[in-house]
Amino acid sequence: MTQSILFVCLGNICRSPTAEAIFRVQAEGRGLEIDSAGTSGWHDGNPSDPRASAEAARRGIDMSYIRSRKVMAADFERFELIVAMDAQNMRDLQVVQPAGSPAKLVMLLDYAPKLGISDVPDPYYEDNFPEVLDMVELACGKLLDSL
Ligand code: 4NP
Repeated sequence: MTQSILFVCLGNICRSPTAEAIFRVQAEGRGLEIDSAGTSGWHDGNPSDPRASAEAARRGIDMSYIRSRKVMAADFERFELIVAMDAQNMRDLQVVQPAGSPAKLVMLLDYAPKLGISDVPDPYYEDNFPEVLDMVELACGKLLDSL
């Protein structure tokens, strides 16, 4: 069974830390290693976007412990499953994945086909945090079911 999962978006302050926090709650007691990172490094060391944290807090989910960090080569050894939020994240991950690394790259919304879209919309620009959290909760639950 998959034991280690990394969620990845661009900035690691909106979508992937939200997925990390939600999945950590959903997977409580399963002993999984769970983390998130960004492809850009633009927000390294920063807490999550307050709009994401506020929407998560409304749902009883704490994001205050998360700090942004950039994806690194070691992540492809440490994590069995790397979950991209959108197609650009996936392309960026494929570029930096070391040859022969065992990590499997997947798209989060592949686990929620009923949504009918493949990319988690970027709420940093669209300011649609409740909608994005609904999508992430649904898809993370299905991802957990699939493990
Ligand atoms: P995220 O959203 O990839 O879901 O964390 C973004 C955060 C920051 C920026 C873009 C997207 N930015 O341009 O700084």
